[in-house]
Amino acid sequence: MSVKGSGDRPEVPGPESRRLHAEEQRYLAPGVQSIALVSGIVLERGEGPYLIDVDGNRYIDFFAGVSVASLGHAHPRYVAALKRQLERLHVGSFSTPDRVELVKLIASVAPGDLRRTQLFSSGAEAVEAALRLAKAHTRKFEVVGFWGGFHGKTLGALGVMGDDFKVDHGPLPPGSYLSTYGYCYRCPFHLTYPSCGLLCAEWLDKVIRNQTTGHVAAVIVEPIQGTAGNIVPPPGFLAAVREIASRHGAVFIADEIISGFGRTGKMFACEHEGVIPDIMTVGKGLGGGFPVSGLISTDAITAARPFSLPSASSSSFGGNPLAATAALVTLRTILEEGLVEHVEKLGDLMLERLRPLQERFEFVGEVRGKGLMIGIELVKDKQSREPLAPPVAQAVFQEALRRGLVIMVSDSRIRINPALTITEEVAEQGIGLLEESFAHIDAHVPHR
Ligand SMILES: Cc1ncc(COP(=O)(O)O)c(C=O)c1O
Repeated sequence: MSVKGSGDRPEVPGPESRRLHAEEQRYLAPGVQSIALVSGIVLERGEGPYLIDVDGNRYIDFFAGVSVASLGHAHPRYVAALKRQLERLHVGSFSTPDRVELVKLIASVAPGDLRRTQLFSSGAEAVEAALRLAKAHTRKFEVVGFWGGFHGKTLGALGVMGDDFKVDHGPLPPGSYLSTYGYCYRCPFHLTYPSCGLLCAEWLDKVIRNQTTGHVAAVIVEPIQGTAGNIVPPPGFLAAVREIASRHGAVFIADEIISGFGRTGKMFACEHEGVIPDIMTVGKGLGGGFPVSGLISTDAITAARPFSLPSASSSSFGGNPLAATAALVTLRTILEEGLVEHVEKLGDLMLERLRPLQERFEFVGEVRGKGLMIGIELVKDKQSREPLAPPVAQAVFQEALRRGLVIMVSDSRIRINPALTITEEVAEQGIGLLEESFAHIDAHVPHR
């Protein structure tokens, strides 16, 4: 099973993709995910770590639906479990044997006393629920997020949104604040770790003291920022944020929607820092593709009213029979196939293989990551660290696509998040295609 290399380039997008894409565009409201738009490909199916389009072009998938396809595409166990459940029952909020198993299994892998799960459908919905729960538990009403943070596009989540998806969507909910994230490559204070003394984390204390009215219900943070470019904060950042949140009587919410369930080489990214959150939000890879998300918290916190009253935190699709089965088979497979350990090892290997690209190409500013959450910063030059011009960054995406590799490129940052099941061989092949694409840009596309 091979991907077409540079010597044997398929036409991408091919004629059938172009035809169908154009037809859909006439009816689709604008605003869908840019990777679907700029690629112009129409997909027919997926097989493990590959995507296959309607023209028969095969791609190595380093995107996995933004970290959703944890088991890759059409994993036999996943398909069998969902088929079986679909034939039995697929609608409603009643419990099913699979849901019983699922919440028990989640409790067994979640850190500390986090043993109660409530299920929803999208990540944003889980984040909104977590903010409501934090308010119910603390009886306070303000929330703090972080620069670069992304928690979904609903209104409460927009309030703690640290990137420009919120532009023109104001006014945001009152009582929403932001503090600085540990983004060392572009340190907001132009300092260097460790002599910075983690000022980025300490800033949270200043925000709470100087900007809020002292009624902070929740501090919400991604342990590794995904949408911002797979940014790994420096050691100690998360623990310091956790401590400051507790000091102010706020609930500490770790948004593990991208980073949870094995993606970073631990079951949850918080574990890299030994931090136990009060509430965790989960989604994406949890369902392996089925839209299922959730929050996980303690007995005491989830007992808070009104959140805990019957129907007070429910939704039409949350935890429905198919969702529960999808999450159960995904989590069981992650555990039984040893995928967390696999990701830890493979992530290290991929970083080892990618880091030399930073030396080889002037426009590769930084390679970073944990497990299979890898980010590459594209810059005009290493000295200025000015982001690579968007058309050049897009050319990187297109060159990779033409060679048979799907990566995410946004705001001059590449995100690599393949399925947790990807083998070393396929990962290596994908990196080879990325390297070829970089070499092409270096030689043929003006980028300084
Ligand atoms: C950390 C994080 N939280 C929340 C969300 C929102 O999830 P959804 O798109 O399922 O609403 C995302 C989506 O990318 C995310 O990365």
